[in-house]
Amino acid sequence: MTFISSSGLPVVVGITGASGAILAKTTIDLLLKKGHSVIATASSAARMVWREEMDESFGVAIERWKDDGDFSYQAVGDLSAQISSGTFSTAGMAIVPCSMASVAAIAHGLADNLIRRAADVSLKERRPLVLVIRETPLNSIHLRNMASLAEMGATILPPVPAFYLGHKTIEDIADFASHRTMIALGLDDRLPIHMNYTGDQ
Ligand SMILES: Cc1cc2nc3c(=O)[nH]c(=O)nc-3n(C[C@H](O)[C@H](O)[C@H](O)COP(=O)(O)O)c2cc1C
Repeated sequence: MTFISSSGLPVVVGITGASGAILAKTTIDLLLKKGHSVIATASSAARMVWREEMDESFGVAIERWKDDGDFSYQAVGDLSAQISSGTFSTAGMAIVPCSMASVAAIAHGLADNLIRRAADVSLKERRPLVLVIRETPLNSIHLRNMASLAEMGATILPPVPAFYLGHKTIEDIADFASHRTMIALGLDDRLPIHMNYTGDQ
């Protein structure tokens, strides 16, 4: 069953400078494949990590997504962009991957770039906010900031593999995390059949 948000509203995807650029790729690919409208924004650290991990400039990815579906990009420094305002309705926001710097800023209401401001808006408007965090090990500052965000209603979703599913590749793990993100955003209600635990693995 294809499960499009009943509102048909755009989904905001923030990309920060944590490792795991592939997580952003698979999540946006999946959203577009399922017919969602996506508005993305990426920090300068995210663009740097993208170049290192994906062997292409982030600009190439933007053009590909524009060809693939209803995709638009808003510059991270543009605090007058639509997603900066609560009056612009969205289905929610995922930050993927989400750095500890962005976790800290959002936990403390520091809305100094478009990703952080859009996350702040999602919290104040009580819209789904999913943070696909990537750091290990975690210190007590990280843990406290994540606990604050969870108490405010955000979903903290580390892209941890489901070892019982026998993932073979990084792509499998990223795909799994992206499907979990869709569910956390309320855009899907279950994992695809091949990702459902049957006990046979
Ligand atoms: C190659 C590379 C990998 C990084 N990986 C991580 C990471 O996995 N988690 C993290 O919290 N920060 C990571 N960082 C550090 C962040 O990029 C840095 O804290 C940055 O200020 C985050 O800013 P942003 O959240 O605005 O993107 C990494 C930096 C580089 C250059």
